[in-house]
Amino acid sequence: MAKVNRRSFLKVTGGLGLSVLGTSLLPLPLWAHDHGGTGTPSPGVGIPPSGGTGSVIDLKLIAREKDVSLFPDRATHVWSYEGEILSAPPSAMTALAGNYLGPILQVRSGDRLRVQFESEVPEETIIHWHGLHIPADMDGHPHAVIQKGQTFQYDFAVENRAGLYFYHPHPHGKLGRQVYLGLAGVLIVRDAEEDALGLPTGEQEHLMVIQDRLFDANRQLEYLTGGMHDRMMGMHGDHILINGQFTQNKTVTRGTQRLRILNASNARLYNLAWSDGRPLTIIGTDGGLLKAPVQRKTLLLGAGERLDVLVDFSDVPTGQTVELQSVPMAAGAGKPFTIQSFVMGAATTAKYQTPAQLCRWDAIPVSESVNRPGDKSFQLRPTAQGWTIDGLTYDPHGVSEKETVQLGTTEIWEFDHTVSGMAHPMHIHGSQFQVLERISGQFQGAFDEGWKDTVLLLPGDRVRVIKRFHQHAGLFVYHCHILEHEDHSMMRNFLVKE
Ligand code: C2O
Ligand code: CU
Ligand code: CU
Repeated sequence: MAKVNRRSFLKVTGGLGLSVLGTSLLPLPLWAHDHGGTGTPSPGVGIPPSGGTGSVIDLKLIAREKDVSLFPDRATHVWSYEGEILSAPPSAMTALAGNYLGPILQVRSGDRLRVQFESEVPEETIIHWHGLHIPADMDGHPHAVIQKGQTFQYDFAVENRAGLYFYHPHPHGKLGRQVYLGLAGVLIVRDAEEDALGLPTGEQEHLMVIQDRLFDANRQLEYLTGGMHDRMMGMHGDHILINGQFTQNKTVTRGTQRLRILNASNARLYNLAWSDGRPLTIIGTDGGLLKAPVQRKTLLLGAGERLDVLVDFSDVPTGQTVELQSVPMAAGAGKPFTIQSFVMGAATTAKYQTPAQLCRWDAIPVSESVNRPGDKSFQLRPTAQGWTIDGLTYDPHGVSEKETVQLGTTEIWEFDHTVSGMAHPMHIHGSQFQVLERISGQFQGAFDEGWKDTVLLLPGDRVRVIKRFHQHAGLFVYHCHILEHEDHSMMRNFLVKE
């Protein structure tokens, strides 16, 4: 395995100096819920989410310490979610063998998800369902933490559209280390609108959870060994893992593949591109499908962001390799590095005809907002205590007037990143929002299309998002998804009051 320079990212913003590593990628298990009507996908678009049939998916997740074999010579000690199906179809939970990543959970929009969460780790923790629109007391707010030996019962309806969501701990000040040690997993939501597209599935649908890690000579995870520097820049590793493993190349059929990408790194920003210069065909983002596919040569994916990508390999000869890479943001600012190599197998599968229109949803009208663009602005600012929002550190019970929203209303929030000098992916709990406007600084490449829960702020940017605060009242958080920033202390509460 190649060692890479962890610090070369200092030359540019946000960490793009890594070099090569072996990686792997995993086909998604075929989902076989026989509730919610999979049937033959019908042609056309605009079919609203099924709402499923409201099946009850009853699961158990346990956070525990264990040893995994990432390296051939010695086991690595990790923290990991392990799961068990209490009552659900087998496809609802798929364990990933031999690594630290939690099981893949799959549900349908409209299902009721019940998760009995038990903690066996020696530190307070709680699970947050990133991207889901659920009641405040189910959201894993830092004040809901449990101790070792305790249980938290989740029980909520899945309201979200089809998409790739994820679950991870959310105790304040300890989140970065817990995720780094291995506590994270994905939740895939399916719905009828997505079914109708007949997207590539089975061996042609791939999960890619991208993470970077640093290991010591004993093959153990090293966290914040770089002290204040790691805290300010966020924890960057020198090994890339995909789905919690190092593996080399992935053999695929010469046909259309669907890549479901999550940047679950603590801090690292990836500038994605194909090694042969083909454009990335993006069909979805954090909150599910776009209205229509979008093509980009390169694209920045910040921590917490997701991407749904189609790639048609039918033009690549058998035996040849195409790499998904992270490339420098500017000439001379580091070298490209491999995220995943795809080797063309002998088999050819039918080419998927990507529809010109994927689905229908409306832009949230500015007129729906109770405030005007720019009049509610949150400034991303470094202080002696670390990174902050508006110069304020996290206050477990505190919430300002500006952070108080009336239930049932829509607001426009601005993140102002004109003061400090590195990228911050800003995440808001609750419903998915839309990016209204990016008043851009010097850097391009962030992707704002579709429904989002995390938006990347590049130095000099101001970004305005429009968000509905409907259905769920209570205390939620918003924060930078560079987990070391969130821990120290770029997180604040917001209150949706009835
Ligand atoms: Cu993925 Cu509050 O976080
Ligand atoms: Cu979240
Ligand atoms: Cu940040």
